[in-house]
Amino acid sequence: MTMPLSCFKNSMLSPQHINQNSLYTPNVTMAKIIKIQDEFSFISRSEHTILEALEAQNIATEYQCRQGFCGVCQVTLLDGEVDYLEDPIAFIGKGKILPCCCKAKTDITIELPYPATPIDNERE
Ligand code: FES
Repeated sequence: MTMPLSCFKNSMLSPQHINQNSLYTPNVTMAKIIKIQDEFSFISRSEHTILEALEAQNIATEYQCRQGFCGVCQVTLLDGEVDYLEDPIAFIGKGKILPCCCKAKTDITIELPYPATPIDNERE
């Protein structure tokens, strides 16, 4: 049985922006809550990097290499901890993380350097 994704207060995204990849399944034991500033929260699947979790929510993201080389995906970690899949090569500023190559170790709060805008799939 799957349960619908829980969205919390001040959500910018309506239910139609939540796709099937973001459904919480009870057998996923390590799912973490990812909060974007004070705007929107969602439950991330444990196998997703933070970048993949944002994409699963249809949130527009910035990236290039997706492997920790370029640093383009850098966001600010306001609260919580992350685990890197491998040590990234790109320079990481103080308080920043590379969401392409890390997963949420705890519930986290991040700040995007751009508005958390849902991708409008109907325009594509
Ligand atoms: S996309 Fe290049 S470091 Fe994340």
